[in-house]
Amino acid sequence: MISVRRLEQATPEERQALIELILTTVNAGASIGFLAPLAPEVAEEYWRGVLASLGPGLVLWVAEQEGRIIGSVQLAPSLRQNGLHRADLMKLMVHPSARGQGVSSRLLREVERFARGAGRTLLVLDSEAGSKAESVYQHHQWQRVGEIPGYAKDTGGVLRSTVVYFKTLVP
Ligand SMILES: CC(C)(COP(=O)(O)OP(=O)(O)OC[C@H]1O[C@@H](n2cnc3c(N)ncnc32)[C@H](O)[C@@H]1OP(=O)(O)O)[C@@H](O)C(=O)NCCC(=O)NCCS
Repeated sequence: MISVRRLEQATPEERQALIELILTTVNAGASIGFLAPLAPEVAEEYWRGVLASLGPGLVLWVAEQEGRIIGSVQLAPSLRQNGLHRADLMKLMVHPSARGQGVSSRLLREVERFARGAGRTLLVLDSEAGSKAESVYQHHQWQRVGEIPGYAKDTGGVLRSTVVYFKTLVP
């Protein structure tokens, strides 16, 4: 049984689960902004920053299975006057042990539901070219814009192309 909920603040246990989620995800090779091996202090500092920034410009959801956090995703609604219809989807991650069960679909559907309700009709994201995540976004009808060569390093430190996607939502 998988459930998804928005996290507006975290208990110490939830904070620890998020740290473990990102450590495992990055150390398993996910290109989400860090090099491997990810140091626990860096992961802790990352989540401290995220949790302190939650609000109108940053929304966080977690997916849980039997009370355990197994995935998360963030949405950054633009706060610019000319971008109030837009939001960036970021840091979709599912624990390696929970993959292949549609957890990311549950998270993506919840983000879309929220975005529609908030009048955000354009979603944007970027992802490592050729990653599993690309197949998931395409499955969810995201449109591929193009690639930027050598934009970011993979977890092993090798420069890789980044792909930009967008999805328009009917309010
Ligand atoms: C990418 C990631 C989030 C996917 O999570 P997941 O929960 O294992 O995703 P699933 O394999 O269950 O796939 C989700 C959906 O995409 C579909 N899908 C997956 N691969 C597919 C493919 N090659 N072709 C078509 N559909 C595909 C699945 O069928 C599923 O659809 P459904 O829910 O409608 O049945 C996960 O692999 C991960 O955390 N990777 C590391 C972090 C990362 O790279 N994040 C992206 C940052 S941009």
